[in-house]
Formats: sequence, structure tokens, C-alpha cells
Amino acid sequence: MEPIIHFIILVHACTIVAMSNYVTASKFSSILVFGDSTVDTGNNNYIEAALSRGDHLPYGKDFPGHEASGRFSNGKLVPDMIASFLNIKDVVPPYLDPNLSNEDLLTGVCFASGGSGLDEMTAASFNVLSMNKQIEYFKAYIIRLKHIAGENKTKEILANALVIFCAGANDVILNFYDLPTRSLFLSIEQYHDVLLDKLQILIKDVYDLGCRKIGIAGIPPIGCTPIQITVKLVLGRKCVANQNLDSEKYNLKLQQRLRRLQTMLQGSRLVYADLYYTVLNLINQSEKYGIEETSRGCCGLGIIEATPICNQFTPVCPNASKYLFWDSVHFSEVSYKYLANYIETEVIPQTGVWKDRESRDVEETSFEDDKSVVEDDKDGDIGGAKSDCVCFKGVDQRPNKNSEKRKEVYKPEGFSLRDIVWARCGKRYPAWPGMVINRMLDALESVLSCYVPGLCKGEVGDGVPIFEIHRQVCGYMVLV
Ligand SMILES: *[C@@H]1O[C@H](CO)[C@@H](O)[C@H](O)[C@H]1NC(C)=O
Ligand SMILES: *[C@@H]1O[C@H](CO)[C@@H](O)[C@H](O)[C@H]1NC(C)=O
Ligand SMILES: *[C@@H]1O[C@H](CO)[C@@H](O)[C@H](O)[C@H]1NC(C)=O
Ligand SMILES: *[C@@H]1O[C@H](CO)[C@@H](O)[C@H](O)[C@H]1NC(C)=O
Repeated sequence: MEPIIHFIILVHACTIVAMSNYVTASKFSSILVFGDSTVDTGNNNYIEAALSRGDHLPYGKDFPGHEASGRFSNGKLVPDMIASFLNIKDVVPPYLDPNLSNEDLLTGVCFASGGSGLDEMTAASFNVLSMNKQIEYFKAYIIRLKHIAGENKTKEILANALVIFCAGANDVILNFYDLPTRSLFLSIEQYHDVLLDKLQILIKDVYDLGCRKIGIAGIPPIGCTPIQITVKLVLGRKCVANQNLDSEKYNLKLQQRLRRLQTMLQGSRLVYADLYYTVLNLINQSEKYGIEETSRGCCGLGIIEATPICNQFTPVCPNASKYLFWDSVHFSEVSYKYLANYIETEVIPQTGVWKDRESRDVEETSFEDDKSVVEDDKDGDIGGAKSDCVCFKGVDQRPNKNSEKRKEVYKPEGFSLRDIVWARCGKRYPAWPGMVINRMLDALESVLSCYVPGLCKGEVGDGVPIFEIHRQVCGYMVLV
């Protein structure tokens, strides 16, 4: 039987707004970062053989103390900015720093390594931490955390940590566009699939280790990096169009994967951070942000200089804030501020922080009358399988005391497209009105991007679709 996947769309738009006001910024207790130089806060400083390093000036010239911290920019990086925004701390220390305090460990560290990528070959080219090595260090970190905080508290910290993944750009640049190590054997589409398979395993790894809230960055418009413009000898220093098109395709596939993966990883919240349109928008409206140069880095001529060849002897532009790029590969701090602001306002609110106390209170208040009318529940033996979910069909079938008798409770296969339904998960929750839609055909991007799985789930027999009802911040209900 073809699995039928349906969504119920909520019709009550008013509470959606009320709830999103309650997404507060202080719920994450720690931050954990995996990826490449865009998010490496200094791990490569501690790897002697690393070829990719930001441990020398002019890197860090605008960092507090004007010191090269190992960050691949003139100042702070997005994880630092997000950690500040979340009131966790002002900078995220690199895990390889031998002097980490207990407090540092409790509030999160960075495992990222400049030059790394999803393809093991990428990190190997620079002698830096592969993503798998980063996960290994993460496991060692968890052991240290358990020593400090105990087993239970460690679990809680991991489940409430904001995890960030940012990788993939180096893979395509290094192994596909600039060296043909992979392009000899694979098309760009195939290579994207290889990378996404690897990313999927990494996400599953951190999920299995106890993380739940995971932000995954797509790749930026690679064709707009100064080095790619130089390599491809584009006249007039314009972005390399086909490389941007590839970045866009990769990001679309990534988003599809994340949606699928989220349904498989119960209780997870995987949120996508777009770096593609965000960066293009910044390029497009650069003057508005005081940026004057978008196709050259601030370091040197800005056309090839990066890491070892951007050094004490390289002249730098007087004001890096007028440059989109710091060197020929990496963004300047001012661009990172712009990206961080986007993530803080548009991505973090999707992490499901709404499930915290205040938002739940609001939600329950706004459905107070429902609470009084619906209360059965050992309920939801749907289709003979254990579940906490009940659905009622028909707009007149708003559940009340009488409908507890369950004759109006339908099994998933009892629904048709466009049915108006009421659904409810567990007796503590109000019934929500919705409409059954086909997830593949009708679901709006906004629906797919904001539903939180795992709230309520019932497996319905062999070969019959899994039946799930979820509520989440955008106010949709989902019946999978
Ligand atoms: C670690 O801390 C000690 C004592 O404060 C200091 O001497 C040492 O340089 C630090 N090491 C690093 C790598 O920061
Ligand atoms: C940890 O949690 C378990 C299960 O909730 C509980 O039985 C145990 O006592 C807790 N251990 C500590 C040290 O609090
Ligand atoms: C720049 O922004 C304008 C106005 O939003 C839009 O019409 C134009 O297509 C954008 N150009 C690029 C290259 O994104
Ligand atoms: C550097 O450039 C930014 C953006 O144009 C501007 O706001 C800032 O005042 C400049 N700083 C200095 C020291 O000139």
C-alpha cells in the first residue's frame, strides 16, 4: 500500500502570533559547533600540521584585544555572536584549547576546523579535523561533561544545546571546482548526494548522542567568493554563475533531506539556515550596510590571499567593515554580523523553544474552553496500536464530552483529502482544528519548514502509514 501522508493545517491563525512572541532567546544553555573555517573559533591553532590557520595577524585585527585567535576573519564569527545573543557567553572556545574551564565546557565549545568538509578528503588535504574526528572529540567532551555535571545533567545539557553544523563549501570548491579529484568520477549532483549522505550521518550521530536542536547551514553562493572569481577569470569580477546555481541546487536538496530526517529522528528539531540568499541579498544591498567592495577581500589585493598568504607582511584595507570579504575566501566580521542577525531573528525561533513553559501556558490559556470539554485518555488506541493522538472528523465534530465515546475517532486511513478535522494529542492538550492535505503535493514550504515531529505518535499496524500529530510554533498540525 502506498503510504498516504497527510498534513492537517490549522485554521486558527491568531494563536500562531501569540505564541511566537514567547520564543525567547535565553533557553539554550549551551552551544556546540561543528564544521569548517566559517565557524572554527581556533581549533587549528592546536594542530601543528594544520595548513589552514588564522593564528597570525592580520587575522583577528578587530577581535577584542586585536589578537589573532585562530578565527578566519578580522573579528568574531557567527557562533560567538549567537552565543552572545542567547546570553550564553561572548565567545565560543575551541575544544582543543588545553585550558578550558568547567564553565567553558558546561556552556559549550567549538569542534570546527578550518579547511574541513563533509568529504574526508577535504580535511585530509589541510591536515585538519575531519567531521568524523570532530564527532570523536565530541564524544570525549561528553565524557568530560559527565565528570563535571553527572549523567543526568549531561543529558539535559545536550538535549538543550544549540548545535550548529556549517560545512560543505570547501568540499565543492576544493574537490570539485578547483581540483578535479571528484569531478573526474562524479557529476556535481552525484557529489552533492555523497556530501548530503555524509551530513545526514553526522546529524544522526549527534542525535544519538543526545542532541535535539540542530541548526544546519546551507552553502553560500560559492561563485561569489573572490578566490572563485579569480580562478575562473571572470571579467569584471562578477560572481561565477554556474557555481552559484550549483550552490542553490545543493541547498534545495539539503532542505529536503532535513525535512525527511526530522521525521525519522523523533523529538528532533532540525532547522535550516540559508546562507545563499542571505549573502546575495547582502551583496545586492551592500551600500545600505556601508559595504563598498563585494568581490575582493580586505587582505592584500583580495583576489587570492587567504590563510598563509594573508599574513603580517600583507597590506590590509584600512576598514574591513567596508568589505564583504575579509580575505579571498572568508567573510568579514560585518558580513557575519548580518548573517548572525538573520539567524537570530529567523532561524533560532524555529528551533522549538516554544515548547518551554511560558509558551505552553499561553497556548493552553488560549484554548481554555477546549480543555474543559475534552478529556478522555488512556485514549488513542488508534488502529489497535498505542497512541496518544485522537482525531475527530468534520467541522461540526468539535470534540466534546460526548465524543469521548470515540465513535467519531477516526483511524488515519479514515481520512480523505480536504477533510476538516479536530485533532488532539493527549488529554492535557486542546483540540486543534485543521484540514487534511497531501504533504507532498499541497504542503507549503512554510508548513514543511516549521513542523516539530515527535510530540505525539502512534504506529498503526503493518504497511499502514505511521500516524503522527504534532503541534508547533507556526501553528500547524501535522498528520503524517
Ligand atoms: C594555559 O594556562 C596557563 C596558565 O594560565 C598558561 O601559562 C598557558 O599559556 C595557557 N595555555 C594556553 C595554550 O593557552
Ligand atoms: C538520574 O535519573 C534517573 C532517572 O530519572 C534517576 O533514577 C536517578 O536517580 C538520577 N540520578 C541522579 C544522580 O540524580
Ligand atoms: C536586488 O534587489 C532587487 C530589489 O529587491 C531585485 O529586484 C534584484 O533582482 C536583486 N538582484 C539580485 C542580483 O539579487
Ligand atoms: C568603517 O566602515 C564602516 C562602514 O562603512 C563605518 O560605519 C565605520 O564608521 C568605518 N570606521 C572607521 C574607523 O572609519
